[in-house]
Amino acid sequence: MIRSYDRRIDRARVEDLERRCEVGPTERVFLFTDTLGDPICRIRNSPMYKMLVAELDNELVGVIQGSIKVVTMMNKPPKDMAKVGYILGLRVAPRQRRKGIGSSLVRELEKWFVANEIDFSYMATEKENEASVRLFVDKFGYNKFRTPAILVNPVQNRPSHISSNVEIAKLRIEDAESLYRKFMASIEFFPHDIDKILGNKLSLGTWIAYSKGDQSSWDSTGKVLPTSWAMLSVWNTGEVFKLWLGKAPLSCLIFTKGSRVISRFFPCFKLLPSLPDFFDPFGFYFMYGVHGQGPLAGKMVRTLCQFVHNMAMASKDCKVIVTEVGDQDEVRHHIPHWKLLCPEDLWCIKALKNDDVQERRRFLYEYLTKTQREKALFVDPREV
Ligand SMILES: CC(C)(COP(=O)(O)OP(=O)(O)OC[C@H]1O[C@@H](n2cnc3c(N)ncnc32)[C@H](O)[C@@H]1OP(=O)(O)O)[C@@H](O)C(=O)NCCC(=O)NCCS
Repeated sequence: MIRSYDRRIDRARVEDLERRCEVGPTERVFLFTDTLGDPICRIRNSPMYKMLVAELDNELVGVIQGSIKVVTMMNKPPKDMAKVGYILGLRVAPRQRRKGIGSSLVRELEKWFVANEIDFSYMATEKENEASVRLFVDKFGYNKFRTPAILVNPVQNRPSHISSNVEIAKLRIEDAESLYRKFMASIEFFPHDIDKILGNKLSLGTWIAYSKGDQSSWDSTGKVLPTSWAMLSVWNTGEVFKLWLGKAPLSCLIFTKGSRVISRFFPCFKLLPSLPDFFDPFGFYFMYGVHGQGPLAGKMVRTLCQFVHNMAMASKDCKVIVTEVGDQDEVRHHIPHWKLLCPEDLWCIKALKNDDVQERRRFLYEYLTKTQREKALFVDPREV
């Protein structure tokens, strides 16, 4: 039986299922999630959301979540936007897999999307998650359409050096919103309720970096900008859920444990980077809306990332800083990350709406699946 999530009777059972369900390619790394008493926390901040559960003989055997919002879908004139439904958190109890439960959950969620007149349904998974890719692509007709880069940087035990030539200023929410609307609104998947994201309590703030010499040209309304500048915002994911590593290659385990021992007992080796212990639950900061302009934009992005790293060091359990950008986006070359820790992401999409705007839907659909992809992509922190 598939029905809506009911907190009173399902909360503990969903949390238990979440803890038992590894996510990640088998034989490599398994990540587990602790939703800290609120299994719906990952979608709660979206304008519309739904969570469904599957029950079999009174046992809770599956769960799925979905959210709906309006985003930019094209960045060529004429500008366009679409109502999209995002599918996440699909889990089926290990002993109940391959019985059609995952499919039933997806089917029911798609019905909710259709009832709410969404244009496209999309989901993200690890490229190597064969079960998930086959379910969505082979069985439900989703199209693979983006492979964004997830960039993961561990929080080190010493602060990053920040160039003294760079000025960093925190933006007021209104200023951040106007800058995002001015410079990023035409980027694919830019959320039209960006103001809600920036004003959310999980959003720790937006910062802008520019050269000190350029300071005179900076005006807090964003109307006059420095020659080179960059901005980004930070979302405190650790407030809503924690992750931990359940299984990892031996080399990763030895490196994690080994490097911590070395930096603790042999401080002279402190130049070696050390990995935090990912086997205990940890939180992370998600950097979103990373954008730069001008000849020194790369340096400004790098400096902002160093600034966020130092901010994360002061937080109790933030062990990594994560961001996700288009795989061809120039900005990725300036965001510090460890290749060893970066999973490969795959986004899949499907057109759902079936009414008088069929033609427009078909046009958008072809644009997304067949034409040259644009480089930048806005990844919504609410969907991490
Ligand atoms: C992915 C997952 C939800 C599938 O649930 P499920 O109930 O087993 O799925 P279904 O029985 O409905 O399978 C539907 C189709 O998906 C594909 N599929 C499912 N599991 C598969 C597997 N282990 N290997 C290959 N294909 C698989 C098949 O095409 C299958 O159709 P078939 O059984 O007719 O061949 C489940 O494996 C799971 O919970 N995995 C861990 C969490 C996860 O990775 N979630 C996805 C994140 S987006």
